[in-house]
Amino acid sequence: MNKISIVGTGSVGSTIAYTLTVMGIASDIVMIDINNEKALGEALDIRQGTPFCGACSIYAGDYRDAVNSDIVIITSGIARKPGQTRLELAQTNVNITKEIIPEITNYAPNAIYIIVSNPVDILTYTFHKFSKIPENHIIGSGTILDTARLRARLSEYYNINQSNVHAYVFGEHGDSSFIPWSVANISNVPITECHKLITTPGISSPELDLEEIEQYVRKSGGRVIARKGATFYAVSVSVCHICKCILSGIDTTMTVSTMMHGEYGIDDVCLSTVNMIGHNGVRGKVNVSLTDEEIKKLRHSADTLKEVINNLDI
Ligand code: 2OP
Repeated sequence: MNKISIVGTGSVGSTIAYTLTVMGIASDIVMIDINNEKALGEALDIRQGTPFCGACSIYAGDYRDAVNSDIVIITSGIARKPGQTRLELAQTNVNITKEIIPEITNYAPNAIYIIVSNPVDILTYTFHKFSKIPENHIIGSGTILDTARLRARLSEYYNINQSNVHAYVFGEHGDSSFIPWSVANISNVPITECHKLITTPGISSPELDLEEIEQYVRKSGGRVIARKGATFYAVSVSVCHICKCILSGIDTTMTVSTMMHGEYGIDDVCLSTVNMIGHNGVRGKVNVSLTDEEIKKLRHSADTLKEVINNLDI
C-alpha cells in the first residue's frame, strides 16, 4: 500500500496522477486543488480507466485526505507563460507555497515532499525555511527533467539506448544550469571521444557541438511552452521516476534539488547535483569530481538563485 497525494491538479499535477496510475506506482492517489471541481473531474477521468491498469484508488479530496501519505507532490502555483522565465514567477508562487505548507504538513507530517512548481529551486528552499519537515524529506524535482532531456538528445545522436548515456545537468532548473561535460560518458567513453571510439562499420559518428546541446537542453522547456502553452509529459514521467525510487528498496542516484551544505563551496541554497534518493528520501549526495571551470559554473548558478532569494519575502 503506497499513498501519494498531489497538491495542484493543473496539467502537471493531473498528468502526474495519470502517469502514476498507468505505471502502477501507488495504491492510493489523492488529488487536491483549490478548484475542487477540476480535481473531481480529473480524478474521475483517470479512475474510469483503472480497470486496464493495476488496482488503484484515485480520488479528489482536501488536505485532510492526505493523512498517512507516503509522498506528497506539490505542483500548485501559476504556470510559466510563453516568454516568461521561471524566476519571474517567484514571489507569486512563494506566496502560494507558504499558504499550502501549514495545511498539508499538518495532515502529512511524515511524508516525503516532492516540489515540482516553478521556480522549483526557490520553492524547495521556501519549503526548507517555512516548514518543519525534516530536510531529508524535501526534494525539488530540479534538473531531473533537464538531465532527461540531455540524455534523450545524446541518445539520438548516437542512436543508442538512453540507459547507456550517463550525463547530467547541474545547478538551477533554469537559465544558469549547465552540463558538467567532464563526467558525461556513453558506456564509460568520455563524451568528447565518442565520435572516435563508438564505431559502426560504414557509419561515422557525429562530433558533438557541446554548446549547441547545452542551449538545446536549457531552452527545451521554453520551446515546448511556446508551441503548446505548457510542458507536462516529460516532467510527469520524471516525477514518477522519483516516486518509484522512493518506494523501491534500493537507493538511486539522480539530479534533484536539495539543500547544499558546503559541497563545492556552496551553502544555504537548493540546487541540483547528484543525490541518492530512496526510502528515507534524500540519503546524501554523490559529490562527483568537477573541473575548476565547472565548479565556477555551479557557484554562479548558486549565486543567481541567492540573489533572487534575497529579493523575495520568504
Ligand atoms: C520545464 O522545464 C516548465 O520547468 C518546466 O518543462
